[in-house]
Amino acid sequence: MLNEKIHTGPVETPKTVQETAPVVELPVQYPKSESNAQDIVKVVNLSKQFDGIEVLRDINLTIKKGDVVSILGSSGSGKSTLLRCMNWLEQPERGSIHLGDERIGINPATRKPLKYKELAKIRERIGMVFQSFNLWPHLTVLRNVMEALLHVKKMPKVEAEKIARAQLEKVGMSHKLDSYPSMLSGGQKQRVAIARALAMEPEVLLFDEPTSALDPELVDEVLTVMQSLSKEGYTMVVVTHEMEFARNVSSQVVFLEKGILIEKCPPEKFFTHPDSPRVRQFLKLDGA
Ligand SMILES: Nc1ncnc2c1ncn2[C@@H]1O[C@H](COP(=O)(O)OP(=O)(O)OP(=O)(O)O)[C@@H](O)[C@H]1O
Ligand SMILES: [Mg+2]
Repeated sequence: MLNEKIHTGPVETPKTVQETAPVVELPVQYPKSESNAQDIVKVVNLSKQFDGIEVLRDINLTIKKGDVVSILGSSGSGKSTLLRCMNWLEQPERGSIHLGDERIGINPATRKPLKYKELAKIRERIGMVFQSFNLWPHLTVLRNVMEALLHVKKMPKVEAEKIARAQLEKVGMSHKLDSYPSMLSGGQKQRVAIARALAMEPEVLLFDEPTSALDPELVDEVLTVMQSLSKEGYTMVVVTHEMEFARNVSSQVVFLEKGILIEKCPPEKFFTHPDSPRVRQFLKLDGA
């Protein structure tokens, strides 16, 4: 579980998240009886506005255990907003999001927003990796990965260090345990951020353009780590512009256009014969 960046790092401030923020509640549309044990995340009829403008409209998306879902779409299509709604960094006006059998952000019994501690608890089960890494600059690599284990999971130091070392080894960063983030390349920073997320044992990992801030020659080392995670069976949702990753690693590709999910299919279909003319145009499949 992770939510490391949310609670233990200099994270993107959840600007719109407040314990008391008003949420227009609709009837729960995902009865437990319809849940499937393999469904990790379920997004149901999700709509989100900013300043009265709808930026996500009626999104439905089911993510199963072990899925790697790539979210594609042009700038401003709502990709980041969808990802941020998934861990309630943004609050949708309509619809619901479920992690396993639990609803994110809303208490289904009272239909009121979750209390901060309740929200923090469910967020611990969701890892998030940002484009800008969000590492603590004053902590070493090892301490960055240990931080959430110590302060969120309240784990003894010896145990936290053991886990942090193991996760840093997994992303090939064992040789930099005592370095500070400023001493690392962008690719190395992002691998540490991934290790930090993994250390919390999240049920799903959300990545928002994890390689977009990197020099081109550093992109592959991060994508290689993500590919190995997919082989290990991690459930991942990845907003990306890396078409090769989407094509070769994803199990599903989702395309957003102006806040609407217009295509959702396996990559073989997406990249060769998508249903949507807009996706064909995006991929230049018609020689456009
Ligand atoms: N906090 C905010 N306040 C107001 N409008 C916002 C906010 N965040 C996003 N938007 C708007 O919502 C729309 C969707 O934005 P979003 O960041 O989700 O798009 P995106 O697909 O991630 O784009 P990009 O590829 O450029 O990252 C855009 O029109 C954006 O300007
Ligand atoms: Mg974005």
